[in-house]
Amino acid sequence: MITPKEYKSRRKDLMAVMEPNSIAVIAAAPHRLRSKDTHFPYKQDTTFSYLSGFPEAHAVIVLIPGRSQGEFILFCREKDRLRETWDGFLYGPEGARDEFSADDAFPISDIDDILPGMLEGRDRVYFGIGKDADFDKQLMGWINNIREQRGRGAIPPGEFVDLDHFVNEMRLIKTSSEMKLLRRAGTISAAAHRRAMRVATPGLYEYQVQAEIEYEFMMQGASAPAYTTIVGSGKNGCVLHYIENSHKLVDGDLVLIDAGCEYQDYAADITRTFPVNGRFSSPQAAIYDVVLAAHTEAVAAIEPGVPYNVANDTTVRVITQGLVDLGILNGQVDELIAEDAHRDFYMHNSGHWLGMDVHDVGDYKIDKRWRDYEAGMVLTVEPGIYIAPDNVEVDEKWRGLAVRIEDDVVVTRKGCEQFTADVPKQRSEIEKLMADR
Ligand code: GLY
Ligand code: MN
Ligand code: MN
Repeated sequence: MITPKEYKSRRKDLMAVMEPNSIAVIAAAPHRLRSKDTHFPYKQDTTFSYLSGFPEAHAVIVLIPGRSQGEFILFCREKDRLRETWDGFLYGPEGARDEFSADDAFPISDIDDILPGMLEGRDRVYFGIGKDADFDKQLMGWINNIREQRGRGAIPPGEFVDLDHFVNEMRLIKTSSEMKLLRRAGTISAAAHRRAMRVATPGLYEYQVQAEIEYEFMMQGASAPAYTTIVGSGKNGCVLHYIENSHKLVDGDLVLIDAGCEYQDYAADITRTFPVNGRFSSPQAAIYDVVLAAHTEAVAAIEPGVPYNVANDTTVRVITQGLVDLGILNGQVDELIAEDAHRDFYMHNSGHWLGMDVHDVGDYKIDKRWRDYEAGMVLTVEPGIYIAPDNVEVDEKWRGLAVRIEDDVVVTRKGCEQFTADVPKQRSEIEKLMADR
């Protein structure tokens, strides 16, 4: 759990990097329509959530460093008995003050009257420029109103700065309470993958495996899958974002499962690939071992002070060498790497930052150079090999094979730790788990 104290210290850290006489304005995410009269489950904007923990839509955070009546102002919906009967509990401005430590809180319906007065006379406005077109328009409306009052002495803000850039840097290094939530998300997701290995069998549908995975997520208290679960059997594994999950598992095929839950706003992201019938064939084993070696070496390469691209470069080298050894690529490894020859078989990078968003925020480069790993960064390591079913350049036995192995790691003081390793990835361990079920 993130305590009110930690939210407060995040706001304090953000305000410390804001220029004098500035204001930050952060909008809650809107509800999104899924189908007439029904919405997608609500997902709060992660910047908004990071700074407040406030879970409702129709809300705006305002931060004004140094404001004598209080620096943290929250606009939100008023309590409304009828609305709450339909859509659930609302905190109201009083709840915003009592439960979320807002110094001041106002009904969102009063924002047009109150916020322009807070913007007026500030030099700079920090906000998530371009994130939400409707909010951009609303904010510019308030600014234009102030501009129109110039003749009466009003001073409109003149500088607009992207707020998320600053928050993203803070979010990149995880605190110990964030790590607890990430570890929990990882543990639940690992259990879900073990469950999938136990139930998968020829004749079961991919969506039934998805149901087993998501059952485990929800039974263990996760709020949702962190992204749409991928269960790709056979050649479906070659489609990187395969989410139809509509085919039957076939004896002799592999199944690639990419699934992770969201637990109290923090995501996990795990992929395992295993044989539907519990035994790897020899071509499957050969490809699998190359991907596993790439994964192992990349994890071993991640430590503080090493540039971000080292993990990816390691996977490219191991996979290119592996494909040459298997006769799938021909040529000299260094030349093949220089030509990006692996891109036909390994078309994504080795990972991404992980946190409140599954593809989490934070720059990968600083001043055009890959940034170095630092303790507290969390990322995925997820090499893969995908051999298109219609690739006539390779021997038939390889066609349609797809393997990805993905774990989540936290950079420690001396290296990194995989915190989703609680689901087997050695072939012998997978076969044992599947034989013993
Ligand atoms: N599940 C999305 C990814 O692996 O990046
Ligand atoms: Mn994934
Ligand atoms: Mn991933």
